[in-house]
Order: sequence, then structure tokens, then C-alpha cells
Amino acid sequence: MATKIKTVFYCQNCGYESAKWMGQCPGCREWNTFVEETIKPSVTGKSSKKSSISGVVGGEPQTKPMKLSEITLNEEDRYDTHIGELNRVLGGGLVKGSLTLVGGDPGIGKSTLLLQTARLLAADKKKVLYISGEESLQQIKLRANRIGDFSDDMNLFCETDLGTIEEVIRRHSPEIVIIDSIQTMFNENVSSAPGSVSQVRESTAVLMRIAKQLGISVFIVGHVTKEGTVAGPRVLEHMVDTVLYFEGDRHASYRILRAVKNRFGSTNEIGVFEMRQEGLIEVENPSEFMLEGKPENASGSIVTCSVEGTRPILIEIQALVSHTNFNFPRRQANGTDYNRVNLLMAVLEKRVGLELSSYDCYINLAGGMKLIEPALDLSMCMAIVSSFRNRPIPDDLIAFGEVGLSGEVRSVNMPDVRVSEAARLGFKTCIVPKSAEAKLKGAFKDIKIIGVSTIQEAVAMIR
Ligand SMILES: Nc1ncnc2c1ncn2[C@@H]1O[C@H](COP(=O)(O)OP(=O)(O)OP(=O)(O)O)[C@@H](O)[C@H]1O
Ligand SMILES: [Mg+2]
Repeated sequence: MATKIKTVFYCQNCGYESAKWMGQCPGCREWNTFVEETIKPSVTGKSSKKSSISGVVGGEPQTKPMKLSEITLNEEDRYDTHIGELNRVLGGGLVKGSLTLVGGDPGIGKSTLLLQTARLLAADKKKVLYISGEESLQQIKLRANRIGDFSDDMNLFCETDLGTIEEVIRRHSPEIVIIDSIQTMFNENVSSAPGSVSQVRESTAVLMRIAKQLGISVFIVGHVTKEGTVAGPRVLEHMVDTVLYFEGDRHASYRILRAVKNRFGSTNEIGVFEMRQEGLIEVENPSEFMLEGKPENASGSIVTCSVEGTRPILIEIQALVSHTNFNFPRRQANGTDYNRVNLLMAVLEKRVGLELSSYDCYINLAGGMKLIEPALDLSMCMAIVSSFRNRPIPDDLIAFGEVGLSGEVRSVNMPDVRVSEAARLGFKTCIVPKSAEAKLKGAFKDIKIIGVSTIQEAVAMIR
């Protein structure tokens, strides 16, 4: 009897599964993202069993449950990637036998980042296998020439068939494997096209099994796609150990590597890089980078300090408030939450008495950075008031604090880290929440600390 072929419709954006086609995905509300994919029942059954992983990384497949105390951990279970920013985002180095997904927009620099990582790991006598499904060996060589010299521990392989790839990995036994990209990989057990949800998921499951059984650290590249025909990295997030997104403004040269999920470390950390001719360069002091070109003595501009993970970043917030020509004033937020800006403007109207309803307001985080942190509230309010009154805020002043609906300024985490970053870069005055004032005054002698408990007190300083 012929095997009955079953078809399923998958949303290519979020992986939502449905028996029939739908115009709008109930999962992610995207339109026209459903694509029909064929599934042979026997094959799916077999492969889902195959994807079960052994309990011990790099160990034999497990046959019986084990006590926690029976499991031994190896000493050196993390590799140093020799890229400080990448180590930080990974939670202190690359974990042996882990599967890491690196997502990002096309052309943002994913291949460059991983090729550089491969180069440094190979230079450290680690066996690296870089598998590309989208570029020829010559193309990779071109990129490699830009980056630098490579050691012989780095091997390249151009292939898209996962069966062949698995064979090569087993024969070659590398310590680190890079798959560029998961959307080009093809598993013959799945009949749908490469890049479809079932192909991408099935291929990731195979790579997960290889990673856990052989103790190989695997990086997979996933393109973030806008159109519905190629499955994006979001459909894989739950399967892998670590999800990193590489983001940045196409027009700016810096790139941010952000951990969205990490089974081995914090997800708050970010890594900052600059894209240059010779590849990605680490930016150890992003504050200096972000404040480059800040206008002096301009109204509507203020510096604030945001903390990403454990790392403070000074950033300039700009506001432009101008008389509106329409019935509805325009509000725009670049790099921060639009709704938060609206909320803060309502607070300013109600608590400070500013007539903002006949003014357009534009907020911009200079440098194209994207930050959503309540600690930016106070500085956003001050920038708006500064632009509204056309009064500049002193250039050596920073402000941070959360603003509540009654206009109160609330405490934020790590105020000391923020002030010390400001002091390091030569700022002289810090406006902070009142609750943190006493502690900060004791700790910092050469920077003036002003505690405020309401937004009215803070904006009274702009005159
Ligand atoms: N000679 C160069 N000088 C400076 N930057 C360059 C140069 N060549 C390439 N780049 C940068 O590298 C980027 C491409 O990097 P890369 O190929 O690693 O990106 P990717 O995310 O892997 O792209 P894809 O989606 O095509 O796989 C370009 O967008 C450009 O910013
Ligand atoms: Mg690439």
C-alpha cells in the first residue's frame, strides 16, 4: 500500500501549523504567510525520534535515567572565542556541544562575524569546519582575504545536503562547526523545499543531535526574512541553546550583537562592533562611539545612560518640538518605544502644564541605537521640555530615572554604574532619582549629584 502523503500548512513567519490554508496567521497576525508542505508520516516519526539528544554532552546516548550527582562536568567546557564582545554575549565563552543560532537581516555581517570567529578559534588550535550553502569557496576566500591570515585548522566545505554534511562532520570530527545558512540546508527525508518551516526545523534537529552526541559546538546562521516564502529564525528559537541577533542600522557602521535566549548565561548582554573594510572590529567603549558628533549648546539634546546587561552606554537623546500644521499633531519615536513617548508627553501636559497638543514631537536616539528602558524616561522628558522652551541643557549634564504617571521620578537599577560611566567621560552633573541621591553622593566626589523626586523639579532646571 502506498504511503499516504499528508500536507500541512505552516506560517513561514512564526511556524504556526494548520490543516488548511489561512489568509492571516492566528499566531503572529501576518498576512499571506501560509505555505503548504508535504509530510510523509513515517519519516516524520523517525526523524523526531532521531532528534532526541543524549543526556551528557559529548557522551554516549543515554539508556536509563541518571542521578544529578552521577553526572560529571568537564573542566574546560567553554572555548574562548578571542572576541571579547562575543564571549560576553555568549555568557563567558562558547559552550562545548552547544547549538547557537545567529540571526540577522541580509547583509548585516553574519558571515563576516562567524568567519572571524572561525579564524580566531582555528588560530587557537581548534578544529573548525565552516560549511557554506550559499557562497562558493572563492567568495569565502575573498571575504577571508579582507579579514586576515587563516591557520590550517580551519576547513571549508560548500554543501547543502545535510546527509553529506553529517558524514563529513563524523569523518572530519571538528570541534566547531559553522552552518551558513540554515535556510539553504536540505534534508532528503523532508520533501518540502529548502527554507520551508519543516526543512529548517528538521535540519536544525539533525544539527542539534550532532552537537549533543559528538560534543561539537555548532553555529547556525538564520536570515531574518520579511517575505513569507522562507522560514525565519524565529521558528527555531525554541529548539536551539542560544539565540543571538545581529542588528544595526544599515547606514551606520556599528553593529550590535544581542542575546535573545541563552541557556548558559544572561540574555541582557550586548556586544558592539564596527564594520570596517577589514571586518568587524570590537567597540569596547560604546559610549564614546555613541556620543561622537553630539551638537554643543543645542536645545532638545541631552545625554542619558542606559544599562544593557552589566554594561553602561551613554547615549544622546534628541527631541524636536515644533508647531503643528495639522489637526492631529505628529509624534514620532526613532530608536525607542512610540507608546512610551506618547505617555511621557501626556504626563508633561498634565503634571507640568505644557500645552503640547498643538505641537509635533520627534524623538531620536542619536546613532541609530534602539533602546527601550524606563531609565530613559527622565531624559526624554527633559529633552522635550528643552526643545519646547528652546533652552539648551548644559553639555556636561546627564539624567536618568523612570517617570511614573503622577509625575514621580522612580529609582532605576545600577545607578552607581551609570554615574561612574558618566564620570569617566568627563560629565560634571547627574540628575538622578531622589532615592539614589544619598548613596551616590557618598560614592562620587568629583561629580555633582542632584536628586529629584518629581518631573516638575527636573524641568524647573531648564530655563
Ligand atoms: N570592502 C568592504 N568594506 C567595508 N565593508 C564591507 C566590505 N565588503 C563588505 N562589507 C560589509 O559586509 C557586509 C556583508 O557582510 P556579510 O556577507 O558577512 O553579511 P551576511 O549577514 O552574511 O549577509 P548575507 O545575508 O548575504 O549572508 C556588507 O553589507 C558590508 O556592510
Ligand atoms: Mg552570509
